[in-house]
Amino acid sequence: MRVLLTGGAGYIGSHTALCLLNAGYEVVALDNLSNASPEALRRVEELTGKKAPLIVGDCADEKTLTAVFEEYKIDAVIHFAGLKAVGESVRKPLDYYQNNLDATMALCRVMPKFNCSILVFSSSATVYGTYPEMPLREDCPTGCTNPYGWTKWISERILTDVAAADETRSFVLLRYFNPIGAHESGRIGEDPTGIPNNLMPYICQVASGKLDHLNVFGDDYPTRDGTGERDYIHVMDLAEGHLAALKYAESHHGAEVFNLGTGEAYSVLDIVHAFEKANDLTIPYQVTPRRPGDIAVCYADPEKAANGLKWRAKRDLTTMCRDAWNWQKNNPKGYEK
Ligand code: WQD
Repeated sequence: MRVLLTGGAGYIGSHTALCLLNAGYEVVALDNLSNASPEALRRVEELTGKKAPLIVGDCADEKTLTAVFEEYKIDAVIHFAGLKAVGESVRKPLDYYQNNLDATMALCRVMPKFNCSILVFSSSATVYGTYPEMPLREDCPTGCTNPYGWTKWISERILTDVAAADETRSFVLLRYFNPIGAHESGRIGEDPTGIPNNLMPYICQVASGKLDHLNVFGDDYPTRDGTGERDYIHVMDLAEGHLAALKYAESHHGAEVFNLGTGEAYSVLDIVHAFEKANDLTIPYQVTPRRPGDIAVCYADPEKAANGLKWRAKRDLTTMCRDAWNWQKNNPKGYEK
C-alpha cells in the first residue's frame, strides 16, 4: 500500500513516514518546505533503509496534486500539510483560511479521479475551544477561538459532508492533543522556525543554552500548581495512531473523528520538573502573565481510539522528555535548513 503524506517532511509527517515504512508501507511525501527540511526525510531513509521520495510543491494546487497521482499509484492520503501557528493565524486569517481549506478541497476533488478513497486528516484538539468539561470526548461541543482552529474545524466539516455525499469515501479525522518528543534515535525531531511557540521545544532550547530561561505563562490557573495543564503525547505514539487510522479506514466508510491523546494532564511545572529529572538538567524559569487565548486545562478521553482504532499511547512522560532532549542536544541547530 502506497501512502501520500502531504506535509510529510514536517515534524509529525516525518515521524509517521518512518513508522509507515517500518510497517511495510510505501511512502511518497509532498511538501512545500515552508516549515520543513528535506533533510528530515533523508534521515528517515537512513533510519529505515527504504526510499521516501519527496516532491516539493503545494498540495492546495490541483495541478500539482494531479501530477503526483499520475506519477505514483496512491492508495491513501495522510494530510498533514497546513499553516499551524495560532498567533500567526490571528494576524493573517486569510492566509490560513485560503491555504488550509484550499488544500482540503483540492484533495477531495483530485483523489476520486484516481480511485483513491482513504484520507486521514490531521486535526487538532483546538477545535474544542474553551469547552470546560474534562476529559474531552469526540462528542463534546466544539467552538474555536482562533482562525487556525476554525480551519481545522471547517476542514472536518468539509470532509464529513463529502463523505456523506459519496459513500465510497473513508475519512478518519484525528484530533491531536500536544505532540512532543522525538524518535529514539535522535536523528529526527521538532525543528521550529525562530523562537518556539510551544512549551517543549522552548524548554529544549533553554536546556541547550540557546535561550536564557523559560517564561511560565501564568501560575494563577485553577489547577494543581496554578500552571496550565495539557495532554502531552509522544510523537511516535501519534505516528502509530496514524497507522491504526489507516487500517481502520480500510474497513470503514464515512467520516469518523478520534482524539489522539493519553488521557493524562500534566502542568507546565510538571513538564519542567520531569524534563530536569529525566535529563539531569536545571531549567531556569520565571512566571509571567498568562498568554492571551490560553485555557487552563485540556486533556483527552482516549477510549474511543482505544476501542475503534485498537490504539493507545504507551510512552510515558520521562520517555517524552528524554527523547526530546536527545534530539535537541544532538541537533542544536535542527536540520540547519
Ligand atoms: C502548552 C502549555 C502554555 C510556552 C498549541 C496549539 C494547538 C496545538 C498544540 C496544533 C500552555 C504553556 C507554553 C511557553 C508556557 N498545535 N507555555 N511557556 O497552546 O496547548 O497548544 O500546540 O494543533 O493548536 O494551540 O501548546 O506548547 O504552546 O503550551 O508556559 O514558552 O505551556 O501556557 O499551558 P498549546 P503550547
